[in-house]
Amino acid sequence: MWEQVQETVSFIQNKINFAPEYGVILGSGLGSFTEEIEIEYTLPYADIPNFPVSTVQGHKGALVFGRIGDKKVVAMQGRFHFYEGYSMKEVTFPVRVMKYLGVSKLIVSNACGGVNSDFQVGSIMILKDHINFMPEHPLRGKNDERFGPRFVNMSEPYSRKMISHATSLAADLGIKVHVGVYLALQGPTFETLAEYKMVKAVGADCVGMSTVPEVIVARHMDLETFGISVITDMGDADSIDTISHDEVLEAAKGAEPKVRHLIRNLIETY
Ligand code: HPA
Repeated sequence: MWEQVQETVSFIQNKINFAPEYGVILGSGLGSFTEEIEIEYTLPYADIPNFPVSTVQGHKGALVFGRIGDKKVVAMQGRFHFYEGYSMKEVTFPVRVMKYLGVSKLIVSNACGGVNSDFQVGSIMILKDHINFMPEHPLRGKNDERFGPRFVNMSEPYSRKMISHATSLAADLGIKVHVGVYLALQGPTFETLAEYKMVKAVGADCVGMSTVPEVIVARHMDLETFGISVITDMGDADSIDTISHDEVLEAAKGAEPKVRHLIRNLIETY
């Protein structure tokens, strides 16, 4: 794994002379964030050695390098999900690559289903914590100390400093945000009514199928991490409407300009 990561990093560094400080993983319907970037290079995943290739509709597969203000960023346009059949090592491989390209701060976004009754479709939630209910763990197996320690401290999965900076920025920008707990299930089914109730009962505010593996691996390598969710459907009622992936993308689109604006400002000012 170490060798594969370094091989991929060398390949990218030979192609482009660019060391990003921020990594951004763009979730469902948030792909247009790349419009905030003064793009210098785009590398399709298919051209990058050792990279998996994205398969989900609405996800484009490319690393996008460029500037936001005077900050250098790399954005993953399209992420890899466990439910697509990738191993957790594959899902999180790009995070390892970002780290050795120079990234020290990772921003992860996603679409999720809300179970907190203060939320509505289109609400924005900054992650303060998560619950990992994924059936596989990205750090299972022999640990490579060059990446990080065997037992990773998860008392601060999401940077408190970044959360407090982002919440005050959101207030200044007039963007309403919630702060809450994300619970990860593997999908690809959306939850049953009973499962949404369970999600709420165990103390989460929303549920999704991504983010947690990448954040675990980021913390393994001591990246400072920030997470943001768009609530695309609500699972807190006694009856839930059937939701589809298209509705998820549609709802994410509604919140997209605000999330884009907030992330942009966060990168510029943090
Ligand atoms: N559940 C899981 N993942 C999701 C949901 C949901 O309700 N909405 C968007 N991603």
